[in-house]
Amino acid sequence: MTDKIFRKIEAEISKLHIRDQGVEDFKVEEDVFDKPTLEALYRLVNKGFITAMGGSISTGKEANVFYALGEAERGLAIKIYRITTSNFKAMTDYLLGDPRFANIRHSKKSIVFEWTKKEFKNLMRAQEVGVRVPEPIVSERNILIMEFIGKGEMHAPRLKDVGDQLEDPASFFEIVIDYTAKLYQKASLVHADLSEFNILVEGGDGTDAMPVFIDIGQGVTLDHPNAEEFLKRDVHNICRYFKKFGVNCEEEAILERVRGKA
Ligand SMILES: Nc1ncnc2c1ncn2[C@@H]1O[C@H](COP(=O)(O)OP(=O)(O)OP(=O)(O)O)[C@@H](O)[C@H]1O
Ligand SMILES: [Mg+2]
Repeated sequence: MTDKIFRKIEAEISKLHIRDQGVEDFKVEEDVFDKPTLEALYRLVNKGFITAMGGSISTGKEANVFYALGEAERGLAIKIYRITTSNFKAMTDYLLGDPRFANIRHSKKSIVFEWTKKEFKNLMRAQEVGVRVPEPIVSERNILIMEFIGKGEMHAPRLKDVGDQLEDPASFFEIVIDYTAKLYQKASLVHADLSEFNILVEGGDGTDAMPVFIDIGQGVTLDHPNAEEFLKRDVHNICRYFKKFGVNCEEEAILERVRGKA
């Protein structure tokens, strides 16, 4: 049984390898799936976290995301950060201002491992205060396993792709602001990369459409020196996007609401 999963993991890897060959010569295979990463994936299979491996969901700038099945056929998203990421400098800046990660070693590898842990912890904190995020399941090295958001094998669309079809954009916007406020006031966190790209839409595009915040690795605690600046940027992005659909958004008032002063 597990042999089959191993073969599937390897098949997925070689597909990526072929797809990216023309662009950056073998870079993907070397970077994402170095031997220790594969070994870590195999360990997660052996421990029962992964029971079947699916295809690639996304090949992003910093990470690859795969579909998989876990215990009791539960859909999973496996996010694997690249050890050699282009955004390494930014990662360091976000991490070092966060007291939870003040004492980390500065090698590329350890920064990426801490980053993965940070995304896991931020997801936990968000979930604890009632913000809808993918439930974090386990993290190891540069691998984060979380709940898959979608139906069957179809991942939920990004807000960017379906925002113009929302039946009630104003209510959806309200929930996004409510989540941002909960993160700030109850979890002492700022997402710091909030936009229509990092919000998934669960439950279709009708009135039951609900936001799910994802990609929260760069989220910082309120004691980070740039936390307020990041919050303003997040609110600005959200307002800019929803204004297109006629939603009334006064940035200063929204900021006050998020901070709990209104
Ligand atoms: N838990 C999940 N369930 C379903 N789909 C997911 C999940 N997590 C991520 N995805 C999909 O993978 C994409 C990339 O994930 P994410 O934004 O976390 O990574 P990223 O490194 O920022 O990638 P990019 O550079 O493309 O933004 C998302 O836009 C979404 O489509
Ligand atoms: Mg993203």
